[in-house]
Amino acid sequence: MNAPRVLRTAAELKDAIAEALAAGSGHGGNAVQSLGLVPTMGALHSGHRSLLDTARAQNNVVVASVFVNPLQFNDPEDLRRYPRDLEADLELLGAAGVDLVFAPAEAEVYPDGEPLVRISAGELGARYEGASRPGHFDGVLTVVAKLLHYASPTASSTTPNVRFRAYFGQKDAQQLALIRRMAADLDFDAEIIGVPVVRAADGLAESSRNVFLNPAQRKAATVLSRALFSLQDRVSAGRPADLAAAVALVAAEPLVELDYFDIVDPQTLQPLADVNGPLEKPALALLAARVGPVRLIDNLPLEPGAETS
Ligand code: PAF
Repeated sequence: MNAPRVLRTAAELKDAIAEALAAGSGHGGNAVQSLGLVPTMGALHSGHRSLLDTARAQNNVVVASVFVNPLQFNDPEDLRRYPRDLEADLELLGAAGVDLVFAPAEAEVYPDGEPLVRISAGELGARYEGASRPGHFDGVLTVVAKLLHYASPTASSTTPNVRFRAYFGQKDAQQLALIRRMAADLDFDAEIIGVPVVRAADGLAESSRNVFLNPAQRKAATVLSRALFSLQDRVSAGRPADLAAAVALVAAEPLVELDYFDIVDPQTLQPLADVNGPLEKPALALLAARVGPVRLIDNLPLEPGAETS
């Protein structure tokens, strides 16, 4: 395992990317070069590992960023206690075969403090997660835009035909939908790739915040994935979605306080008109709940199947 090179400034990162591409380095050495960017806030777990593995399998050069973005936290306490452990992160990044790690200080990304101008997530950013975290998605999109600029191989390489891909987890379904829209609406040169949710053996979706759950809370939190899978089973068997039954299952767990649970269009995240009847097209079930000190989110695609009798 080679330790990845750590870059602290955007200028260093651009030079390192240009070097890696010019050397045809990283892995593979194909004629068409490709660069995969995996943006993270550190505290890496198996969910990130799956993003990194996907990026590694698809690209010559893989860059991961580790930056806890203050702009996307609306609760200063949440920002303060967000887990940070760069040493451990570098170990996982090295094991995943990452070539370059961008780990900037806050002043590198926001040299004048909070930016005056930021990217607006608009109406799509105001629903669901955005409703309880005003400005959160504006902060996410602003930092992702900056990271896509820093890592863009077309800006930092003389090598022609460089493909640029950026990887995000499907667990953050609203974030992924917004980043896709941003890339399309604002003509970014990156292809945005969504990577499926990674679950622990008990079904809980992997999250950096799971470490804050005590054993009783952790057990209670598994009701979230059970409710999603019960919905998915019904829909794929061609039966009515019956969101109300899935909500009732979660409501029966006293340690879990449901924030929202809805069935939406996978691209626009617009709620479907009929969430209890049979579904006519693929959809996404998504939810958020508070369990003890943490807020958890999860989602599952719903693919309507033919009814079996
Ligand atoms: O999903 C995350 O970890 C963050 O929102 C991201 C995309 C790295 C931006 O800070």
